[in-house]
Amino acid sequence: MIFRQIFDSGSCTYTYLLASRRGGEAVIIDPVIEKVDRYVQLLAELDLKLVKAIDTHLHADHITGLGRLRDLTRCVTVMGKESEVDVVSMRVTDGDRIDIEGLTLIAMHTPGHTPDSYCFRMDDRVFTGDTLLIRGTGRTDFQGGDPAAQYESLFGTLLKLPDDMLVYPAHDYKGETVSTIGEERAFNPRLQVACGEEYVALMRGLKLASPKMMDVAVPANRRIGLTQDNLLATGRAITVQDAIGLCGRTDVVLVDLREARERQIHGVIAGALHAPYRDLEANVCEGGLLHALAQGRKLIFYCAFGERSAMAVETAQAAGIAGVAHIHGGLAAWKEAGGPVAATG
Ligand SMILES: [Fe+2]
Repeated sequence: MIFRQIFDSGSCTYTYLLASRRGGEAVIIDPVIEKVDRYVQLLAELDLKLVKAIDTHLHADHITGLGRLRDLTRCVTVMGKESEVDVVSMRVTDGDRIDIEGLTLIAMHTPGHTPDSYCFRMDDRVFTGDTLLIRGTGRTDFQGGDPAAQYESLFGTLLKLPDDMLVYPAHDYKGETVSTIGEERAFNPRLQVACGEEYVALMRGLKLASPKMMDVAVPANRRIGLTQDNLLATGRAITVQDAIGLCGRTDVVLVDLREARERQIHGVIAGALHAPYRDLEANVCEGGLLHALAQGRKLIFYCAFGERSAMAVETAQAAGIAGVAHIHGGLAAWKEAGGPVAATG
C-alpha cells in the first residue's frame, strides 16, 4: 500500500494520501488548499490517479483543497450526509463503504466536534479527523459542537475499535504523527473521565480562543461547488422539470453516473442507463459505450447532487460529444421536485 502523511504547517493539518499500488487509484483525506499543487505533483510522481477526495468534516481552521482538487483532477468529493457544504459529489452515512481500486474505507459517523464529523477506518488504521487527536480531542465549543455527542462518539464508537488500531488524526500541534486506540484510551488526558457528565464539564471548561482562520474558512468551505454554476451559465444544465419532460423520448439517453451502492440506497430514475463516473473516460472516447449511444441522441447525465454529472458534461464535450447536458442538482433535486424514483432491479 502507498500511504503518505502530509503536513500543512499553517494550520497544523495532516492530509493523507492512500493507494493500493503505484500506477493505481488514490484517495486523499482532508486536503488543504495551499498544498494542492504539492498533492498533484506527488500523484504524478507516484503515477497515481486521484479518484476520491474526502473531508472528515467542515473545517474552520483552513480552506479545504476539495474544490481545487476536483477542478484539477475531476475526482469525486466525499463528505458526510450531515455536511452543510453546498456541493459534494458523494455523501456518506454511518457504515458506508468508500471504495477505490484495491482499498476500502468505512465511514463512521462521530458527531461532537461538528455534527458532520466522520472517522474513516481501514483494516489496521483509522483516520479520526478532529474527533480524536493524539492526547487530545477536537474542541466542541463552536460550529454546532456538542461535548455529550462527542463523548458518545469516543466511548461508544471509536474506543470500541481494537487496541492496536493505528490512529491518524487531522491535526497535531506538537509534532506527534501517529498513535493507537489502546494508547489513547490509556494516556489521553481527555479520556480519563468516569462518565459523560464529567467529559462535558471538562470540555466546557476549556475556554479556547476561536481559530484565526474561522471567519474565512467556514464560509469558503461551505461553498465549493463552482462547476455547476458555470454550466448553468453555458446552458449545458437542464432543470428537473425539463428532464421529466424528456423522459421516455427515444432520442434522449438518461445516464446514471453513480456507484452501484448509491443506486441501491437512493433509488434510480426508471429507464436510465448505468455508466459509473469512474469509467467515464473509457465510455466517452471513440469506441466507448456512451460515444456510440450519442450518435443521433442527446445524453443527459445525472448523479447524486449534480457535481459528477457537471464534470462529466465537460469530459464528454472534450471527447467530441456535442449533444450532452446534465440534470442540475442531480437526483436530490429530482426527488425534491417530486420526480418518480424506482428501486434498482
Ligand atoms: Fe475541525
